[in-house]
Amino acid sequence: MGRSCNLLFNLAVFILLRDHTSLATIPNISTDEATLLALRSHISSHPNNILASYWSSSTPICRWIGITCSSCHHRVTALDVYSMQLHGTIPLHLGNLSFLISLDISDSTFHGGFPEELAHLQRLKLINVTSNNFTGANSSFLSLLPNLRFVYLSSNQFAGKIPTSFSNLTKLGSVENTEKFSQWRDPSRN
Ligand SMILES: *[C@@H]1O[C@H](CO)[C@@H](O)[C@H](O)[C@H]1NC(C)=O
Ligand SMILES: *[C@@H]1O[C@H](CO)[C@@H](O)[C@H](O)[C@H]1NC(C)=O
Ligand SMILES: *[C@@H]1O[C@H](CO)[C@@H](O)[C@H](O)[C@H]1NC(C)=O
Ligand SMILES: *[C@@H]1O[C@H](CO)[C@@H](O)[C@H](O)[C@H]1NC(C)=O
Ligand SMILES: *[C@@H]1O[C@H](CO)[C@@H](O)[C@H](O)[C@H]1NC(C)=O
Ligand SMILES: *[C@@H]1O[C@H](CO)[C@@H](O)[C@H](O)[C@H]1NC(C)=O
Repeated sequence: MGRSCNLLFNLAVFILLRDHTSLATIPNISTDEATLLALRSHISSHPNNILASYWSSSTPICRWIGITCSSCHHRVTALDVYSMQLHGTIPLHLGNLSFLISLDISDSTFHGGFPEELAHLQRLKLINVTSNNFTGANSSFLSLLPNLRFVYLSSNQFAGKIPTSFSNLTKLGSVENTEKFSQWRDPSRN
């Protein structure tokens, strides 16, 4: 599988390069590393300094706790760091995780709002921010995510309403893909 992925990827890179697109503009795992380092620096406290060992700079990010990478594209596909009592805010950079499918930062004390850049997470299928201290009313980015199926926002301090455009997410709430979905989700959660 990895092999045919790589062939396709190389072909895509070849075509991009032929079209004079610079390789420097193609996001890769280094982009994801920069993003996660930005997130780590936006987390001001965590119990027992857990991130120092869970998200150590000397460990490749794909082996960090709560991080899943796709073997195919070697990009971060899941950021599942729930119940870690992380206290912090969401940096703009998070929108650079362009292969992200699952974002679960539930059961912590993240606060503030969601940056508009999250609308770049076009592959995102699940967002779980349940039980945090988010106050940002603007959740409009959610309606710009065509693949979103599972949205959990409860137990926060939101003041605003869920935008009406939200209803145009036709895939939302459909459960037929739950099984497929759980293949790359942490099985211990189900
Ligand atoms: C990722 O892209 C940068 C340029 O944006 C490049 O310098 C770097 O070598 C690439 N890293 C990998 C692992 O491909
Ligand atoms: C990631 O996103 C931030 C803010 O949106 C941006 O400034 C930065 O250049 C982006 N790219 C990388 C590789 O971090
Ligand atoms: C969302 O987060 C809450 C709190 O951590 C958890 O109880 C729930 O199972 C999560 N839902 C999904 C679908 O992951
Ligand atoms: C969450 O927000 C409420 C209201 O603003 C505040 O009283 C509480 O201390 C916050 N909790 C944490 C853990 O930051
Ligand atoms: C809310 O966010 C969307 C995109 O995420 C942006 O277009 C819009 O201007 C924002 N609205 C407010 C009131 O900030
Ligand atoms: C949903 O509607 C908004 C504006 O109402 C639009 O910008 C957005 O592209 C639509 N999303 C999808 C997935 O069609």
